[in-house]
Amino acid sequence: MNPIRIAPSIIAADFSYLRAEVARVEQGGADMLHVDIMDGHFVPNITFGPAIVKTIKGLTKLPLDVHLMISRPRKFITSFCEAGAANITFHVETEDTIYTAIEEIRVFDCKAGLSVKPKTPLSAVRDHLGHIDRLLIMTVEPGFGGQKFMPEMLEKVKEAVELRRKGNYKFDIEVDGGLDKYTVWPAVRAGAEVIVAGTAVFGQVDAELAIREIRDGAKQALAHLQP
Ligand code: DX5
Ligand code: ZN
Repeated sequence: MNPIRIAPSIIAADFSYLRAEVARVEQGGADMLHVDIMDGHFVPNITFGPAIVKTIKGLTKLPLDVHLMISRPRKFITSFCEAGAANITFHVETEDTIYTAIEEIRVFDCKAGLSVKPKTPLSAVRDHLGHIDRLLIMTVEPGFGGQKFMPEMLEKVKEAVELRRKGNYKFDIEVDGGLDKYTVWPAVRAGAEVIVAGTAVFGQVDAELAIREIRDGAKQALAHLQP
């Protein structure tokens, strides 16, 4: 099992105070910053592009965990890597050749991740598990923050733990969508290690408290797992 990390999702921040918003989660103990990129085609919503990611990069020392919800990730890998992404995760359901996209991300000393939507089985990523640094299992239908966590996705998390063990792979298991101080518990028990939380962190007045509560929930879940 890899260490637990909390990744607040900037999608839920108040963009009129971007600098202060980034600072409050960095000072509040976030391990990385999750950055959702949507193109209005792969998902029914649009966020922002590489220029804003570069701006965010200039505001923080936190690694940027860039989540591409776009139909043609290969077109933008260079731009997002140059903008300062530490990790680029794209979807297996996209139109591009998965292996090539992973290789292109690696050219930039950037980590590569693959994500699956709720309706996509893990068999879709099976052939790539030995080549990725992170597997992102969506726990909501991608497109919008503030949705309800889908507990049935935790079967996929458990399956990922099993596939990693059998294949001796190294990827992190990340969950994204509807995570908070309550849902983190079953997610970590199932095997999740990177916890994305938008509303549950940026939507709270005290981000430090929110992050601490999520981390405490994760620790309790881990304590429960110990023999
Ligand atoms: C959904 C995004 C998520 C999400 C997180 O498409 O990938 O990162 O917005 O926000 P919450 O935690 O509010 O579900
Ligand atoms: Zn995301």
